[in-house]
Amino acid sequence: MSHSSVTLPMVESRVVTERAQASKPVPRLSTRVFALSQLLPIIILAVVMFYEVTAHLLIENQTHPLLFAMETIVFGIIGPAVTWATLNWVAREIRERERAEGEADALNAMMQEMHHRIKNNLQTVADLLTLEMSRNPRPEVQESLRDSITRIKSIAASHEMLSVESVGVTDITELAQRVVQTTRRSMVRPDQRITIRVTGPNVYLGSKQATAFAIVLNELVSNAIEHGFRERTNGTIEVELDWDGMDVWLRVQDDGIGLPEGFDLNTSRGLGLQIARTLVEKDLCGKLTLTRHTNGTTAWVLFRRGSGLSYK
Ligand SMILES: Nc1ncnc2c1ncn2[C@@H]1O[C@H](COP(=O)(O)OP(=O)(O)OP(=O)(O)O)[C@@H](O)[C@H]1O
Ligand SMILES: [Mg+2]
Repeated sequence: MSHSSVTLPMVESRVVTERAQASKPVPRLSTRVFALSQLLPIIILAVVMFYEVTAHLLIENQTHPLLFAMETIVFGIIGPAVTWATLNWVAREIRERERAEGEADALNAMMQEMHHRIKNNLQTVADLLTLEMSRNPRPEVQESLRDSITRIKSIAASHEMLSVESVGVTDITELAQRVVQTTRRSMVRPDQRITIRVTGPNVYLGSKQATAFAIVLNELVSNAIEHGFRERTNGTIEVELDWDGMDVWLRVQDDGIGLPEGFDLNTSRGLGLQIARTLVEKDLCGKLTLTRHTNGTTAWVLFRRGSGLSYK
């Protein structure tokens, strides 16, 4: 009996451990500035007193007593006091900034850890479904489970990338590469030679948009393989991304059989495109269009990065 093995991921505190290892007992800048604020006034005071005593008292010098008193007050008392107050203020400001940075770092580490655990849990669910798939020989069940597994793995891919990004955003061109590989592994038949090219600049999206993007891309690429190349052994899928700083375009073009005659996205009853359309409209606040051309199908997704503006 050949079962796919289910790898139950161990709950790791990877990020937290890495951070703990990285921290060295180096005194903080605020502590050093504070120490300087205590030391420097005493040094200034000592130097001024040394100068006053040697220049005016020990060496024969006809300095006016008023000038002597003024020098002592200005350089010996006011000088150290101003230095102390200034350095103290600088140390306080630095401490505030360090505290804010520390909080941001802790939050960031927590978010990374959370994405890492979500990814592990999704991977476990996908592994369990794979196990289920290997026990059930009925083609329709296999197909349905395979679709669910690739959907789950696409979501896991976005969480995997977010678990290593330090600012809660991820590059969707790299995410597209990963999603496409996952989809390809589960959809392409052994007799097929399908070339999938992903091109585009680095486009960074937050976790919600990145996850929606991954699912949508999986649906579009799955359809190209499943329907576009159903009867074929060779084909090419081009996934192209572009953006102008605000609006993001995704083009998925295949040179397959093309959409069925009279296809209408609004009335199509397939689950995959319904999921894709809902996510594009709700989570990406964008628009999905599919067009049939002489040599295959092109799907366009247009959306605005991180916005609530709608393209409907
Ligand atoms: N790239 C494509 N090439 C040819 N036909 C396509 C393509 N994309 C979509 N279609 C057509 O659109 C229909 C609807 O697709 P949709 O993804 O919604 O459902 P499905 O793929 O049939 O089922 P599911 O995605 O739920 O497994 C498909 O059955 C297919 O006829
Ligand atoms: Mg589909």
